[in-house]
Amino acid sequence: MSQTAFTPRVFSGIKPSGGLTLGNYLGAIKRWVAMQDEGMETVYCVVDMHAITVWQDPAALTRATREVAAAFIASGIDPAKSILFNQSQVSGHAELAWIFNCVARVGWMNRMTQFKDKAGSNTEKVSLGLYAYPSLMAADILLYHATHVPVGEDQKQHVELTRDIANKFNHDFKVDFFPETIPVIEGPAMRVMNLRDGTKKMSKSGESDMERINMTDDADAIAKKFKKARTDPEPLPSDLEGLKDRPEARNLVDIYAGLSDQTPQQVIAEYAGAGWGRFKPALAELAVEKLAPISGEMARLMDQPGEIDAVLRRGAEQARNIAEPVLKKTYDIVGFVR
Ligand code: AMP
Ligand code: TRP
Repeated sequence: MSQTAFTPRVFSGIKPSGGLTLGNYLGAIKRWVAMQDEGMETVYCVVDMHAITVWQDPAALTRATREVAAAFIASGIDPAKSILFNQSQVSGHAELAWIFNCVARVGWMNRMTQFKDKAGSNTEKVSLGLYAYPSLMAADILLYHATHVPVGEDQKQHVELTRDIANKFNHDFKVDFFPETIPVIEGPAMRVMNLRDGTKKMSKSGESDMERINMTDDADAIAKKFKKARTDPEPLPSDLEGLKDRPEARNLVDIYAGLSDQTPQQVIAEYAGAGWGRFKPALAELAVEKLAPISGEMARLMDQPGEIDAVLRRGAEQARNIAEPVLKKTYDIVGFVR
């Protein structure tokens, strides 16, 4: 299965399930903006069908879908450069996912660590959709023959499964139809950690709001959360080696690096020997400088939901233009009469 035979195309998505965090921004959105100008076609999706794998209040889902779209636009995703839409408007995602449900093996799904984490000991009671979710994610990507998928570290296993599904489909039907997708996991902040526990990922759904920075937090909240962020008593070291076994300290350095477009080494070089009393306020100031213009623009866009919906509708139309021929060809390969 060659990768090079396919036109380079980027696809990625975020679930509209609650507010967006600094993890979403640094691990995904900020890099998506950069990829718009790297000469590849870029397709970015608000994956509402993924969100409902756990219960979503309908009105809250509508609002969250618009808010994620607003965050994309406010962060610099330009609907004139990228295709920007919500998943449920392009029915091909669900249709291709069904075919992939019949290609993927139950044993593959059983290995997905995110499912195990989310379901916990409750595997009998979660939705069937949550279990099958990686197959829908493979459909999202392969419906566009996407070759590059920029995601945070936590999604690596799902992109690898996408390759397995593509390979098995190609092998079973003796075709070279779906590309081998590359996960693009680059930069210092591919795994932004919880501010109160540096061994856990920062997530939308963590219990306490103090664990995360939300993209819509105001300057006071950001300052307070960084001030109260857990650290250790040691000052910052002069090299990265000195951050080994200091997960909370490492996380704050990585966040600073991600926000300021520097490497963690550069940050350490600037702050070697500094105590938290100096570093934390500098970090808070930097975060406010980067996030405040985005949250301001998000609020402005959210006052004009009709405009957001129009962008999503146009994006969905463009998305369908790519997806429809791929789906038709897939149906032909499978042997469906149409
Ligand atoms: P989700 O919020 O689960 O829909 O995630 C959307 C995107 O944000 C995916 O590419 C994730 O890998 C990324 N992401 C979410 N949380 C983090 C985090 N704490 N650090 C880095 N990337 C993250
Ligand atoms: N599963 C991803 C997450 O939870 C979101 C997602 C759905 C996605 N479909 C995708 C990411 C396709 C990249 C490509 O973060």
